Amino acid sequence: MIQPLLIKGGRIIDPSQGIDHSGNILIKDGTIAWLLRDEGQETCLPEHCLVLDAHRLVVCPGFIDLHCHLREPGFEEKETIATGTEAAARGGFTTVCCMPNTNPPIDNKAVVDYVKDKARKRGIIRVLPIGCISKGRRGEELAEMGELAQAGVVAYSDDSDPVRDSRLMRHALEYSRNFGLPIIDHCEDTTLTEDGVMNEGWVATRLGLRGMPTIAEEIMVARDIALAELTKGRLHIAHVSTRGSVELIRRAKEKGVAITAEVTPHHLTLTEERVMGNEAAPQPLSLLSYDTNAKVKPPLRTRREIEALILGLKEGVIDAIATDHAPHTEVDKRCEFGLAAFGISGLETALGALMGLVHSGELDLPLLISKLTIEPARIIGKEIGTLRMGAPGDVTIFDPEAEWVVDPKAFASKGKNTPLAGRILKGRVMATVCGGKIVFQDKHLRLEKSHDIKERVRE
Ligand code: DOR
Repeated sequence: MIQPLLIKGGRIIDPSQGIDHSGNILIKDGTIAWLLRDEGQETCLPEHCLVLDAHRLVVCPGFIDLHCHLREPGFEEKETIATGTEAAARGGFTTVCCMPNTNPPIDNKAVVDYVKDKARKRGIIRVLPIGCISKGRRGEELAEMGELAQAGVVAYSDDSDPVRDSRLMRHALEYSRNFGLPIIDHCEDTTLTEDGVMNEGWVATRLGLRGMPTIAEEIMVARDIALAELTKGRLHIAHVSTRGSVELIRRAKEKGVAITAEVTPHHLTLTEERVMGNEAAPQPLSLLSYDTNAKVKPPLRTRREIEALILGLKEGVIDAIATDHAPHTEVDKRCEFGLAAFGISGLETALGALMGLVHSGELDLPLLISKLTIEPARIIGKEIGTLRMGAPGDVTIFDPEAEWVVDPKAFASKGKNTPLAGRILKGRVMATVCGGKIVFQDKHLRLEKSHDIKERVRE
C-alpha cells in the first residue's frame, strides 16, 4: 500500500483543466483524490499521509515523452529500461514511449511482452512500447500490426530510419486505421542526406563536413501528408526540425488531414554552430574543432528554423515536445565526427533547456507544460497528462528559478552524450510522482509525515 501524499502550497498548472493557481493536491490509492485552491488558510491535514512542501514550486501533471530510446533489448551498454526510466524520473517524466530500434526490434508480440515485463520489474515509471512499421525495420514488408496492437503498442514507427518505400507507407497508414494508432515517421529522404553528418550550411562548409539539407526532411513530410490525406490514416511527424516542415504541417492541418507533430528540446534551443563546440564562444578559424555530442538526426539547424519551430508550437501546428533521448556509449561518440553515432541524451536536461525559452519570454509556461502533458497524452489516446480527480497520480514538481550546472557524469542515464555539459540551466525537477509513488526526490525537498506536523502545531 502506498501512503497518501499531500502536495502542499505549489503553483498548480494543469492545462487539461485550464488551471493555474496555488493550491494543494492529495494523491490516494495511486490516483488524484482532490485538488483544492489554496485560499490562504491551513489545509486540514488528512491522517497518516506524507506531506510535500511545494511552496515556490510548480506542480503539474507528470511529463509524457512520446519519443525516447531505452535500447533494451540488445544495446544494454548504451541504456537499459532500469537506467532509462531512472533518468526519465529525474527529468520529471512519468510516462515514456520507447522506440523499437532495439535488437531484436519490437516487431512482434514476444518483444513487446519482453519490454513490458522488464518495465514492470525494473522500470520506475510507465513505459509504453512503440512497435515497428516494417518487419525487422527493413522497410520491405509490414510488421504484424494487429498482433502488435493487441500486445499493447501505442504507435508504429521505424524511427532512426524513414519509411522509404511509398507503397509500404501507404499500406501502413491504411492498415493502422483498424487499430486507431498513429504511424510515426522519421522524415528523411536518404538520397539527399547520404553521408551527411550535420546541417547543410556554412558551418558544414567551414568544417569540411557533408551536409544534410532541410529539403530532405520536407520532401518526406510532403509525401507522408499526401498519403495520410489519401488513406485517412493517422500520421505523426517525429522530430520536426525545419521551417518548411512546419509550413507543410500547418497547411495539412488546415485541410483537415489527421496529422500531429513533435519537436525536441535540442531542435528548439541549439543551432548548427554548436557542432563547432561552445556556441557562446566559437573557435577562431585556426582552431577548427567539433563536438560529436552535437551530432544528431535530424541535425541541429539555424536560428531561422528555431523561430519557426517556436511559432509552430505556439500556434498549435506542433502538438508536443518529445526528447528523442538517444543514449550512446563513450566509444560511440569519442571518435572522428563522421564515424560518431547520431543522438543526444536528453531526458535529464529537457526541462532545464526548455525553461530557457520561458525565461527569455519566447514560450509561456502553461503552454510549455501542455506540450509535455495533455498534448502527448491525446496523441496516444491515454487518460494521463492531467490532474483531474481519478486520473493516475502522476505529478511533476519543479523549481522554475533553480540554477544548476549540467554534469553528464551525474546522469542516471548511461548516455553521457550531451552537448550541454557545463552549461548552467535554470529550472530543475524537484520531485516526480508516478501512480502516487515518489520515484524521484531532490535532496533539498522537504517531505514530512502529517502526524509530525500536527504534533509540532500542538506544541
Ligand atoms: O540522432 C538520432 N539518434 N536520431 C534518430 O532518429 C535515432 C537516434 C538513435 O537511435 O540513436
